[in-house]
Amino acid sequence: MKKTALITTLIITIGLIAFTSVVISSNSDEAKSMRSWFKQTKNQIDPLQIQRYTDECGSCHFPYQPGLLPATSWEQIINNLDDHFGENAELPESQLKSLRNYLLNNAAGRTRYGLPNKIMAAQGDHPLPLRITELRYFLHEHSEIPSKMVQDNPNVKSFSNCDRCHQSARQGLYDEHDVRIPGVGRWDD
Ligand code: HEC
Ligand code: HEC
Repeated sequence: MKKTALITTLIITIGLIAFTSVVISSNSDEAKSMRSWFKQTKNQIDPLQIQRYTDECGSCHFPYQPGLLPATSWEQIINNLDDHFGENAELPESQLKSLRNYLLNNAAGRTRYGLPNKIMAAQGDHPLPLRITELRYFLHEHSEIPSKMVQDNPNVKSFSNCDRCHQSARQGLYDEHDVRIPGVGRWDD
């Protein structure tokens, strides 16, 4: 009797451990995809940093992932926040340091994953712009979209509003199959 009870307890315990680890691993998969952009999972970015960046730089527009611009461009943006595309986006010095590190460490050209590499390759020796929307890669990818779907579309207004069209932009996924242009629908090219 005692032996059976012991075995039962053992089985239950093993079952519980197995169950818990399944729960934990599926949770951490989710956490991984939150922390990674552009479909890569190796780079572990502190979710707190992402949160801070989103709070500080995502109040006026979509919080562009650091890998969308090279470090030189981010540096210039951070150094001129008082004159930021016609707005004052100044931040206290205490917040600037970690923000600068976050942007520069994860900038295109300093990380290895796909999209930033494509951005750098397409730019070649051409001057680096301040805007993502002026990168050669960006211009090339969006050259077939007429202005009636963008500038003249009250639900989009500007190419700078990535998430209006790219449904998974916040996860750093810009697959063309995930594009829905407001008032137009799925993009079929
Ligand atoms: C006070 C509002 C405001 C805040 C805060 C702000 N921005 Fe901007 N940002 C703008 C405006 C306005 C534009 C120009 C948008 C346009 O042309 O449609 C812009 C454009 C940009 C662009 C270029 C987008 C493109 O067209 O490719 C980048 C990159 C950018 N901001 C980064 C940042 C970063 C990094 C921070 C945080 C340090 C930040 N912004 C905070 C207002 C803001
Ligand atoms: C008006 C809607 C719209 C806006 C706004 C927009 N895009 Fe796009 N984007 C598209 C469409 C449509 C395509 C596919 C174009 C094609 O294949 O001809 C695309 C393609 C892309 C691609 C290539 C995807 C692939 O599968 O090769 C990337 C990367 C991308 N966009 C990033 C961005 C970023 C970053 C922003 C903001 C700075 C942005 N887009 C803003 C509509 C938009």
